[in-house]
Amino acid sequence: MYRLIYKSRAVEDLNWDVVERILHHSEANNALAGITGFLLASRTHFLQVIEGTFEEVNDTYLRIVRDTRHDEIQLLSYEVIDARLFETWAMKGIGVFGSNSDMARQLISKYGEQDGGVRFPLESWLALSMINDIRAIHELPEWKR
Ligand SMILES: Cc1cc2nc3c(=O)[nH]c(=O)nc-3n(C[C@H](O)[C@H](O)[C@H](O)COP(=O)(O)O)c2cc1C
Repeated sequence: MYRLIYKSRAVEDLNWDVVERILHHSEANNALAGITGFLLASRTHFLQVIEGTFEEVNDTYLRIVRDTRHDEIQLLSYEVIDARLFETWAMKGIGVFGSNSDMARQLISKYGEQDGGVRFPLESWLALSMINDIRAIHELPEWKR
């Protein structure tokens, strides 16, 4: 089993409608491919975690990288894992678009600011820590560790 994490810049300003469209398509594809993961969006950036077999993660990532809705893709990690973190999610999406919500303020104070919003980290362990904080704020179920 493998886990890949990347960060990218959105070509156009993001809002929940845009993210929901991506998620709708992704969930169907990922369920078929046995991919699980998490997609985080700010107004300007994506941060995504993809888990599955080597072939499926690789194929999915190659498709995503070619997508013209984003660029400046930075691969943060691609590693062997013992178990999935996002077992129950074919792709869970969360948006942190502004800088004024309680969640945005908390995340900016801990992880920093970029383009007037939350800065998504480039270190994979910090990226996972941020997702875990968001999970807690949204009261999403605990990860399986
Ligand atoms: C930020 C971002 C994340 C995406 N995540 C996924 C994903 O997890 N799974 C997926 O199949 N497609 C994902 N896509 C969409 C792919 O880039 C591509 O459009 C899609 O997989 C093509 O599917 P199709 O061959 O069924 O048309 C994502 C696109 C973007 C911009």
